[in-house]
Amino acid sequence: MSAAAAIHLCEVGKTYPGRELSLRGTKLETQGPVLWVRNAARAVRLTGEAAPPVRALERVSLTVAPGEVLGVLGPNGSGKTTLIKILAGLIRPSEGVGTVAGWPLSQAGVIRRHVAYVSTTGWMGLEWALTAEENLRFFAELSGMPSRRARERTRAALAALDLTADAAKLSGELSNGMRQRLLMARALLWHTPVVLLDEPFVGLDPDHRRQVRDLIRGLPREGQTVVVSDHQADVVEAVADRVLVLEAGRVQAMGTPRELVRPLAGLSVLEVVTEMAATPAAPPPPIVHHVEWQARPGPMGRMAWRLTVETGDTAFSAVLAWLDTAGGRIIEVEERRPGLRDVLPEASAHRVESA
Ligand SMILES: Nc1ncnc2c1ncn2[C@@H]1O[C@H](COP(=O)(O)OP(=O)(O)OP(=O)(O)O)[C@@H](O)[C@H]1O
Ligand SMILES: [Mg+2]
Repeated sequence: MSAAAAIHLCEVGKTYPGRELSLRGTKLETQGPVLWVRNAARAVRLTGEAAPPVRALERVSLTVAPGEVLGVLGPNGSGKTTLIKILAGLIRPSEGVGTVAGWPLSQAGVIRRHVAYVSTTGWMGLEWALTAEENLRFFAELSGMPSRRARERTRAALAALDLTADAAKLSGELSNGMRQRLLMARALLWHTPVVLLDEPFVGLDPDHRRQVRDLIRGLPREGQTVVVSDHQADVVEAVADRVLVLEAGRVQAMGTPRELVRPLAGLSVLEVVTEMAATPAAPPPPIVHHVEWQARPGPMGRMAWRLTVETGDTAFSAVLAWLDTAGGRIIEVEERRPGLRDVLPEASAHRVESA
């Protein structure tokens, strides 16, 4: 284990217990087994169905260096929030060991004092009776920050998140995006060594998305280490030095965006929209490495295709000729260089196998 690591995890796993059939609240009648069974059945219906335990993380090992921005990328339910909550000292892993800011996971209370945690998808914990500015000062002073410093840090955090003009609004009067930036501002008050951001970009407009991205990229200059999750590859690629890809609780890949995209070097991605309801009968031409398609929502019967193809003059026409054999009209074609999103299969897409 590297002593200098800001975060180190070794084979960390998490199983959430399932819900069990409960007879809680059942009124036991003495008038025979039939009534008892009827009461028990009603209680079981009321207390929910039995659910098996959920294996949310499976043997996750990772090391994050001080000053690094680690992106955690994965679809819904892949374990991003579970991982971040373990790093924040909010839930305990079922197995494995690790350290955060030098403290073992078993000392969760100490870890919580050394990390800033932002969950923009869960409980926000803002004081609704206070303004944006008062919220920040309240939480700063609550943690023991002298009031002058709390005032200065509050002002700086509001400015960094473009909230100065909204500082006097009650937190209930803020828009969703403003409230999300307020949570981010609150997390930056303390300059903790580790900053954990669970989907901080959700719901932000493009300008504020860029602003928050630049802000995150600047945190390492203040000596902070960042873990930031999202389910969109482009978002993570733009902010992270290295990316951990989670799929159903397992680490699928880990590396710099460039390393992860390297297997697609020399290939092009074609995004095509067609008007048709069938896939071509013949397999795709050999220059095509990978094909995915999904039906576009709506009454038009359109399909969106993503093809990874060998770059070359004939690739384009060969692909279009192949798609054309299904008889539909080609509506849009776009060619681009592969990015991180092309490394991950779309969860909901169908695949067409090459010959
Ligand atoms: N408190 C809990 N009790 C039981 N199961 C849970 C609990 N929290 C999460 N899970 C399960 O653990 C798995 C991972 O969930 P998690 O919230 O970590 O995923 P995620 O990658 O953050 O997803 P999303 O993109 O939707 O936020 C899911 O199957 C989820 O249903
Ligand atoms: Mg989540």
